Amino acid sequence: MGELSADRLLSQRSRAVNASGIRKVFDLGAKIANPINLSIGQPDFDVPPDVRQAAIQAIQSRQNGYTVTQGIAPLRERIAADLRAECGSPLPVLITSGVSGGILLALMAALDPGDEVVLGDPYFVIYKHAARLVGGVPVFVDTYPDFKFRADRYEAAITPRTKILVLATPSNPTGVVLADDELRQAADLAERHNILLLIDEIYNKLNYDGECPCSLRHAPHRTLLLRGFGKSYGMTGWRLGYAAGPQFLIEEMTKLQQYTFVCAPSMVQHAGLAALDADISGHVDDYRRKRDLVARLLAGTFEFAKPSGGFYFFPQAPKRFADATTFVEQAIAQRVLIIPGSVFSERDTHFRLSYATSDKNIERGCEILCQLARG
Ligand SMILES: Cc1ncc(COP(=O)(O)O)c(C=O)c1O
Repeated sequence: MGELSADRLLSQRSRAVNASGIRKVFDLGAKIANPINLSIGQPDFDVPPDVRQAAIQAIQSRQNGYTVTQGIAPLRERIAADLRAECGSPLPVLITSGVSGGILLALMAALDPGDEVVLGDPYFVIYKHAARLVGGVPVFVDTYPDFKFRADRYEAAITPRTKILVLATPSNPTGVVLADDELRQAADLAERHNILLLIDEIYNKLNYDGECPCSLRHAPHRTLLLRGFGKSYGMTGWRLGYAAGPQFLIEEMTKLQQYTFVCAPSMVQHAGLAALDADISGHVDDYRRKRDLVARLLAGTFEFAKPSGGFYFFPQAPKRFADATTFVEQAIAQRVLIIPGSVFSERDTHFRLSYATSDKNIERGCEILCQLARG
């Protein structure tokens, strides 16, 4: 009998997935003294006090067991009522373990080996890897340089194997928000090809130029909306999100949740109800101001599409560098942590900068990046 080695044990499926490039930047950053960290993918504000209190209260009042798989009724009913008021659609809701949980369940429910998922490039990393983990094939649609939705580019990527078109608004890594007309075109496209629109709106409350149009409005019968609590309320570690969409799909995802995540954490679901009443407008104003600060500091030195939501910029790396990874390595050597665009893209031409940090870090970091760009 041989030794139980990685070769013997680990599946092809697992080995085909690379470690996240974001982790690699974190590992590099851990070796640098006093880094200026512009790589962070979570808010720098804390969970609102009432929400923390609600979680503590839930624990103290012994809400510590499993909940029903689909999530506690008061939270689901409240989300369904809010969605009806916002988008006009009465839809079933499943409470998930973060938006990542919703993504995985949706892909597991929909994809057979070889089925294709169309992704706008750049994309949030999990889509590509989760699609592959369940045997699906990610197909990329280049959206550079302005990251808008262009129906003709997406249509060219659709084949008879396509089952899902994934969009994120506001987007990670670009911060771009899709306009209502772009969402309508996406819905028309999904209708023409009889596919599902999976729309990730985890950053929907962090938007700075007017409301994000609700993506359920145009094709509620073929849209799966995923939203989360982590980014809006500074509770990324609490793992809470929800999916709303066609009844048969929500039922299938609920069945799969039963055998995977079981349920979202109980006390967090109770706190989620309090979060929906929390006022985060002060944080939104603060991030709008930070967004404008970064835009001012980078203007004239970097090319970028001005973001309207989230807390990221996705500028082009200066052309005098061989690729964006080379630029990022030099930035990191000067203590500024940013993420190479190749983590989110099939191209290596851009980088992601997060402004979920102090003004001092933003000012110092952008100054170093601009100096580096000018050479
Ligand atoms: C676009 C997008 N979707 C989903 C997620 C994951 O969300 P959660 O932490 O709720 O699983 C992230 C986190 O960075 C994200 O940027």
